[in-house]
Amino acid sequence: MIGLGAMGTALARALLSAEHSVTVWNRSPEKLAPLEALGASAAASVADAIQSSPVILVCIDNYAATNKLLGADDVVSHISGRTVIQLSTGTPKEARDSEDWLRRCGGDYLDGAIMEYPKSIGAADAMILIAGSEAVFERHRSMLECLGGDLRYLGENIAAPAALDLASLSYSLGKYVGFAHAARLCESERVGADQFALMFPVGDRARELAEIVHAGAYELSSLYDGASIRVWEGVAQRLQAQALDAEINSEIPDFISGIFKRAVAAGHGEEDLAALIKVLRGA
Ligand SMILES: NC(=O)c1ccc[n+]([C@@H]2O[C@H](COP(=O)([O-])OP(=O)(O)OC[C@H]3O[C@@H](n4cnc5c(N)ncnc54)[C@H](OP(=O)(O)O)[C@@H]3O)[C@@H](O)[C@H]2O)c1
Repeated sequence: MIGLGAMGTALARALLSAEHSVTVWNRSPEKLAPLEALGASAAASVADAIQSSPVILVCIDNYAATNKLLGADDVVSHISGRTVIQLSTGTPKEARDSEDWLRRCGGDYLDGAIMEYPKSIGAADAMILIAGSEAVFERHRSMLECLGGDLRYLGENIAAPAALDLASLSYSLGKYVGFAHAARLCESERVGADQFALMFPVGDRARELAEIVHAGAYELSSLYDGASIRVWEGVAQRLQAQALDAEINSEIPDFISGIFKRAVAAGHGEEDLAALIKVLRGA
C-alpha cells in the first residue's frame, strides 16, 4: 500500500482486517507506526515496498505524484510482472496514460475510483469502481472486495472509473454553486438560512449547507463532515482538464472553477464549501 493519508490508511486497515499480508510505505514515515501496530510491515523505500508484493495499491494526492514515485530509477525496473492498482483520483486521460506506461514497463494495471469517505471503507455498501483487463481484475477481485462490498467492475475501458467519478462530482458541483446563489438570494430577501434548511429533508447536503450558513460555522467539520473549498477547487480543475483533453465544451467547469478560485484567493480555501456564499456577498 503506497500512501497512508486518510484514504490509504483506511484501505490498509481494511486489508489487514481481512488478514491480508500488507506492506506499507508513506512519504512521511510517522504514518507507518499505527499500521505496523496492526500487523503491517513498514517499507523503508518505494522500491522495497514494491518488491515485497505482487500487487501494489496506490492512493496518494494525484497521478503526477504516482508517476514520479513509480518512475524513479530504483523502482521502475521492479514493476514488470506486478499489478499496480491506482486508487488516487485523476482524469480519464491520466488513467489511459498510466495504463500505457505500466504496460510498457511489463506490469498489469487496474484503475479505480473510490466513491466513499475513508470511514466507509470496508463496509458492505462501499462503492469502488474498477476498470482494466478482466483477467487481471478477476485475479484481484477478492482482495478488492474487502475494501468495498459494492465493488463494480466497469470493463476494459480504463478511463471509465475516472469518468464516472468526475461526472458525479460535476453534478454535485453544479448543485453546490446553485446552493450558494440560493442562500444569497434568501439572504437578500431577509429569509433566514434556517428557513431555507427546512426546505430539504434531514441528511440532505443542502440542508446541512444551509445550517452551516445560518450558524456561520464555516470551519471544516464544525457542524458536518465535508470537503474543503480547496479540495473542490481541485475537482473543478480536473473537470477543466478533462474538457480540454476530450475537446468538449468547458463553459460550466470554467465558470465553477472561477468562483472556487476566487474563494481560495479570498482565504476561504480551508473552509467548508458553504463558505462559497462569502464570495457572492461582494458587489
Ligand atoms: N478522503 C476522501 O474522502 C477521498 C475519497 C475518495 C478518493 N480520495 C482520493 O484518495 C487520494 C488520497 O486522499 P486522502 O484523503 O488520503 O488524502 P490525504 O489524507 O491528504 O493524504 C494524501 C496522501 O498522499 C501522499 N502524497 C501527496 N503528495 C505526495 C508526493 N508528491 N509523493 C508521495 N506521496 C504524496 C501523502 O503523503 P504524506 O503523508 O507524506 O503527506 C498522503 O499519504 C486522493 O487522490 C483523493 O482524491 C479521497
